[in-house]
Amino acid sequence: QKIVLAYSGGLDTSIILKWLEQTYDAEIIAFTADIGQKEELDGLEAKALATGATKVYIDDLTAEFAEDFIFPMFQAGALYEGQYLLGTSIARPLIAKRMVEIARAEGATMIAHGATGKGNDQVRFELNVAALAPDIAVIAPWRMAEFRTQFPGRAEMIAYAEEHQIPVTASAAKPYSTDRNLLHISFESGALEDPWFDASSDANEAMYMLTVSPEKAPDTAEYVELTFEQGNCVAINEERLTPLAVMERLNELGGKHGIGRVDMVENRFVGMKSRGVYETPGGTILFTAHRKIESLTMDREVMHLRDSLIAKYSELVYNGFWFAPERLAIQALVAESQKNVSGTVRLKLYKGNIIGAGVQSPVSLYHPDIATMEADPTQAYDQGDATGFIQLQALRLKVSAGVELQKGSGR
Ligand code: ARG
Ligand code: SIN
Repeated sequence: QKIVLAYSGGLDTSIILKWLEQTYDAEIIAFTADIGQKEELDGLEAKALATGATKVYIDDLTAEFAEDFIFPMFQAGALYEGQYLLGTSIARPLIAKRMVEIARAEGATMIAHGATGKGNDQVRFELNVAALAPDIAVIAPWRMAEFRTQFPGRAEMIAYAEEHQIPVTASAAKPYSTDRNLLHISFESGALEDPWFDASSDANEAMYMLTVSPEKAPDTAEYVELTFEQGNCVAINEERLTPLAVMERLNELGGKHGIGRVDMVENRFVGMKSRGVYETPGGTILFTAHRKIESLTMDREVMHLRDSLIAKYSELVYNGFWFAPERLAIQALVAESQKNVSGTVRLKLYKGNIIGAGVQSPVSLYHPDIATMEADPTQAYDQGDATGFIQLQALRLKVSAGVELQKGSGR
């Protein structure tokens, strides 16, 4: 039998690779997705083979990640609990999808991952696999008693690696658990577990990977123009770019100006609260610009309807329901809502801030002629009409207020 393993080359997944091979007497196919984590992928194939994998896939999924996952999610305006741009959450369905494809191509019946039993990632991973391949079984060693008794700590893992000649690059234990991709990097655990720990202090500055601190950002503001077509950013400063190139360009710009740091306590799907710090430089610029182009081009009722679904949509992405029918249904509504979200947004980036500096669109719904406090040449709006409008709106308020008054006088 064959097992496809989500493999990073680190100590955990190296141990898991060998352990699966022995425990299941199976062929292990190692899979690593390049989703922009910028970790060293050179030498990974040789390492996996030396550890015992029979085949290795290292796939560049960055373009697909930007186009089919990040961009549709930003069209929806997703934001989890008002702060988190879902950088880790949105990568999981892509990884699961590719693993299912590999399992199919290789005739594997099982998929394994190295996520812990306390996090969101295991849930996302397994729900996404379930939605794509109901017949494929998932193995999560960290949730298995026999695995955990064998490896209660790092020392046992290192001893096991030596015993089985598993190549592990000695790396100092990292102070935080991180997850990086094209959209963001996340930091959890370690000192961050104390919510009163100040992650923004100078003493903690070395943690950050994608941004400078706002204090260290340039003293001069920088302008940038984002052009949208149907809710997707298609050009920066009039240069047409692919979604992948848009993300790369915006990450650079945002990072330089200290944009997109978030420090929050969030609710994990598995029940506990967890403290995390995120850097999402490009995503934060894209999110802000998208809102601004919508403000000019989106019908009020369509906007409010879509907005009413943001919390739900974000929860679906966070909880691992990307391939669920309800996410697809909301996405169809989102796509319809974006048909006229086209035009250009000008922003000024300055020390962690994104300052609106202009917006224009060939399909703008904003008409200064109608909104003006000066004489209205279009005659589209008659102020006298507002009297009846307000009176009818007020009717039910007056009736209820009358009842309250009566109750007051009766007492
Ligand atoms: N808390 C974030 C989320 O659930 C980030 C998780 C990071 N995952 C990791 N394996 N370090 O989306
Ligand atoms: C993990 O447990 O693998 C990381 C944290 C998370 O998934 O929420």
